[in-house]
Amino acid sequence: METPIIEVIGLEKAFGDHMVLKGISMTVYPKEVVVVIGPSGSGKSTLLRCLNRLNEPTNGKILFQGYDIMSPDIDINVVRSQMNMVFQNFNLFMHLSVKKNVTLALTSVKKITQEEADRIADETLLKVGLTEKADAYPGQLSGGQQQRVAIARALAMDPKVILFDEPTSALDPELIGEVLDVMKKLAESGMTMVVVTHEMGFAREMADRVIFMDEGVIAESGPPEEIFTNPKNERTRIFLKRILKEIEDMDPLKPKYETPELAPEAEGVKAAEEGYKWSQEHKEPDEQKRWLGFKFLKRDKKK
Ligand SMILES: Nc1ncnc2c1ncn2[C@@H]1O[C@H](COP(=O)(O)OP(=O)(O)OP(=O)(O)O)[C@@H](O)[C@H]1O
Ligand SMILES: [Mg+2]
Repeated sequence: METPIIEVIGLEKAFGDHMVLKGISMTVYPKEVVVVIGPSGSGKSTLLRCLNRLNEPTNGKILFQGYDIMSPDIDINVVRSQMNMVFQNFNLFMHLSVKKNVTLALTSVKKITQEEADRIADETLLKVGLTEKADAYPGQLSGGQQQRVAIARALAMDPKVILFDEPTSALDPELIGEVLDVMKKLAESGMTMVVVTHEMGFAREMADRVIFMDEGVIAESGPPEEIFTNPKNERTRIFLKRILKEIEDMDPLKPKYETPELAPEAEGVKAAEEGYKWSQEHKEPDEQKRWLGFKFLKRDKKK
């Protein structure tokens, strides 16, 4: 098999005596899209931040392209430029133009000329559809546009992997789609991505693998069709049920689960006999299927 881009072995992270990551092992292969889901506080952000040592691991090993990133010989800034991160709150420099936000690390970390950096910025801003905003300031942009600038900035570094930590969570619902579209294009172009998100439609459509984190461990992982339709772990099941319900409640076009077409069997004899009990038992997988089929499924999976 191919050499992994990232290999995590027995990763532990404690803040003081609070053990947050309790032995995480995972592998990310080139061009893979790995989506990390899990309840708040389960350690998703900490895991991402350990991958490029924005948080220092307490124990365990992280290999990036085969190199141990804890080794004293490693230049962590180079690792970070190749394993770039997109944050929930964009983290743009508000006093710099969009273009300058993109070129800054190119000239200061990568030490390339301003002229070459400008050329790369033009190219990446085109990719995220923001060419005409190059001279604007972040404060003049919508949240979705700001997040696309942040993605352009990450992309400009020509990274091997991009880590996304809830990139759409701070956005108004109507702006989420434009950011997910850019992320899908990136995935389709073969970018390796590790994405923490609650966007189950994105996970379902784009993930090669979904990791469910719970209380500092990987409770379950597998292809999305398996995790979403047949989760083996009870906690995954409970989490998915809750999150899908939350998303449904937020969605103005929310599907109505009580509609007959959702539970065609409900008209059958069995339903009539067992009534409430039956619908309770059968509602959960139907809900999931219904919602997961609801968005993003017009496009084919990448490649
Ligand atoms: N810098 C820190 N110092 C102390 N504790 C921290 C620090 N960062 C995270 N924690 C703790 O680690 C635990 C996991 O946090 P983390 O942010 O990784 O969770 P998460 O899964 O990303 O949650 P969310 O979905 O809310 O973003 C939490 O209990 C949090 O309080
Ligand atoms: Mg987090």
